[in-house]
Amino acid sequence: MFKFRKPLIAANWKMHKTVTESLSFVKEFLPLAAGVRDIDIVICPPFTALLALSMVFENSPIKLGAQDVFWANQGAYTGEISPLMLQDLGCQYVIIGHSERRHIIEENDLIINRKISAAKQTNLTPIFCVGETLPEREKGLAREIVQQQLEKGLQDLTAGELVVAYEPVWAIGTGINASPADAREMTGFIREQLAILYDRTWAEGVRILYGGSVKPDNIAQFMNEPDIDGALVGGASLKAADFARIVRLNDNGS
Ligand code: PGA
Repeated sequence: MFKFRKPLIAANWKMHKTVTESLSFVKEFLPLAAGVRDIDIVICPPFTALLALSMVFENSPIKLGAQDVFWANQGAYTGEISPLMLQDLGCQYVIIGHSERRHIIEENDLIINRKISAAKQTNLTPIFCVGETLPEREKGLAREIVQQQLEKGLQDLTAGELVVAYEPVWAIGTGINASPADAREMTGFIREQLAILYDRTWAEGVRILYGGSVKPDNIAQFMNEPDIDGALVGGASLKAADFARIVRLNDNGS
């Protein structure tokens, strides 16, 4: 599988794993992933485990990401974590606009836009999530919804380092992944929209991930799609052996 863009596979642990559990995952995962080359592997643990993992990853190719960020670098924002704090911990990536934050925490496009802007200013690469719900898909609105999420989330922002994750809400945590054909159509559409919003050359360089019930047994199908440059993995990233099979694209050879 040759990819013009460097593939990226990110683990989104959500609200799982204590520090001790995070460290034991990494102890098991690092040797299993040791032979993997030419793929950026990013682990996004809860905030509480970032420091411990950043120390372990210091001498490893695994990169660290956070699952959310606030839009100011400091100030009276009780409970929030700033881009500067994440950068200080060695984070290079941050997930922004995940559907659980959009739908459970009720984050809107304006908040997401501010967060992407703040992350970019601090040189954190946003993993910007977009995706439609099942009723929206059934009404034939998938493209329109994703187009609006892209336009509003990126409003007034300059082009720059960005990862987009297409995560149809109905596929997240359900065990029902999008078909590779649907994912191909939507990721191709996303790249077209990025070319319209900015320019084609930049859009061709943006990595677009698929997320939603990615498992060891379906990762290879997604990676074969031309506009899919990797995956954002929830449930199947919690077990070291499963996530290792995913970053190895389920290839058992070394
Ligand atoms: P899932 O979650 O792999 O458990 O479906 C993906 C995500 O929420 O990023």
